[in-house]
Amino acid sequence: TVIVVDYGSDDAQVLSRRIREAKVYSEVYSYTASADTILAARPAALVIAARSSAAEDVAVVDPKLLEADIPVLAVGGGFTAVSKALGASVRQADTPLAGTVQLENIDDNATLFSGQPTSQDVAVNHAHVVTEAAAGFVVTASHADMPVAAAEDAKAQVYGVAWNPGTADSPHGQSVIKNFLFIAADLAPDWSVDLVIDQQIAKIREQIGDKRALVGLSGGVDSAVAAALVQRAVGDQLTAVYVNHGLMRKDESVEIERAFGASTGGAKLVMVDAEDEFLSALHGVSDPEEKRKIIGERFIRTFEQAQADIVAASAHDPDATDVQFLVQGTVYPDVIESGDADGSKVIKSHHNVGGLPEDLEFELVEPLRQLFKDEVREVGTQLGLPDEIVWRQPFPGPGLGIRIVGAISKQRLDLLREADAIVREELTASGLDREIWQSPVVLLADVRSVGVNEGGRTYGHPVVLRPVVSEDAMTARFARIPYDILDRISQRITAEVDGINRVVLDITGKPPGTIEWE
Ligand code: XMP
Repeated sequence: TVIVVDYGSDDAQVLSRRIREAKVYSEVYSYTASADTILAARPAALVIAARSSAAEDVAVVDPKLLEADIPVLAVGGGFTAVSKALGASVRQADTPLAGTVQLENIDDNATLFSGQPTSQDVAVNHAHVVTEAAAGFVVTASHADMPVAAAEDAKAQVYGVAWNPGTADSPHGQSVIKNFLFIAADLAPDWSVDLVIDQQIAKIREQIGDKRALVGLSGGVDSAVAAALVQRAVGDQLTAVYVNHGLMRKDESVEIERAFGASTGGAKLVMVDAEDEFLSALHGVSDPEEKRKIIGERFIRTFEQAQADIVAASAHDPDATDVQFLVQGTVYPDVIESGDADGSKVIKSHHNVGGLPEDLEFELVEPLRQLFKDEVREVGTQLGLPDEIVWRQPFPGPGLGIRIVGAISKQRLDLLREADAIVREELTASGLDREIWQSPVVLLADVRSVGVNEGGRTYGHPVVLRPVVSEDAMTARFARIPYDILDRISQRITAEVDGINRVVLDITGKPPGTIEWE
């Protein structure tokens, strides 16, 4: 394992993913974990990432990490921090460096730059610079604004670059990372998603034994892939529960049934149709937080009822053993962000409406805990799940309920479902759907505008297209969809969805906008 030690940077997860892309397993630890904890995990190499801002001092790196006889790659603010810990001269930059910088004199004899051009663009974001390298280091790149832009001490096994090699804005960054892994640290590229599948199947079999397990399918990628993995491991000892709350997208329930229904011969699937209950509980409610609360509570109650029914049914079945396990699609970013991983920082508490109560008396099975989203998709594909599920965009637990500005009704949901299906169809047809993180369609149910159709006046609702690109939903940019595709979407929606006579495009970033409108 290569451990990325994170001193509050924005780059740690991305670096960890890039290392895995090079087929070396990697995890993120927060600096709040002690050096002893980190070293006890026996890392094969360390990557040090740190934030560097003008308002704060340079991060303090525990020298124990640097003296453990383990290869170290220090990047960005982590380079300044490691350099300082080893005795280099470091000062605040005259103006903080942010954006792309062109380096002209990269030493291609250096370990990290072997096989690379001597001139490269690199992505920088730091407020401190190294002016003189620590004793024992060779300076391997420099720049007018960064006297020491890269340095290495092969004897001490410490290597550093003052930029972030994990982003696409550093075009040779992945090569820097690979040179560190395969030359400096002499590691082998032997990790893969296939390996994870085999390991997890063995682990799930051991954990569940001959007992039974439940999984709640939300319609999302993570729960579907977790379910497929457990199904592969224990077959019909798994029962999948799918609650249709009536706020799903068009055909969603059908696709779930197709992927997990009787025809797959695996898990048992229980479809709970709770549309009427949800819609009557939501009648007349337009406040977004109140909608979330109602949907969340009702979801828990519905799931608990389904669970009680399943447990009761198994009590009459002499062959069935207890339902003791609950499968959840927790993924690695959730683990890091909720502070569950060893010493990792708490970024946000997960407000997973549509999630499950904490007091369920189950042992959790979480086979995706170590995987990033793209890896989860790869597992899903390997397990034979259809593209419609594996490449499904993230979808909020409260579903279309928070994409209707105004009160929710079946008729409004149907309008939105039709418009949303057209957007998904066109984006899939254009091949853009995999680049786009999410493309919510929002019905402005409380707004009406005048239009004209075949010579007659219309008075309908607008829908808003909200396509965004993002790495993790924490920040986002509006997706640059070509005008001819937008045109086709607009024409189809206004022609095919009776009641919608206007299509508008949301071009707000996050921040300041959120992805969803409610
Ligand atoms: P925002 O709108 O906050 O969304 O930029 C960030 C991500 O979270 C999803 N989202 C939710 N997911 N329950 C969920 O499970 C919710 O109440 C909820 N609200 C937003 C949103 O779709 C995006 O992926």
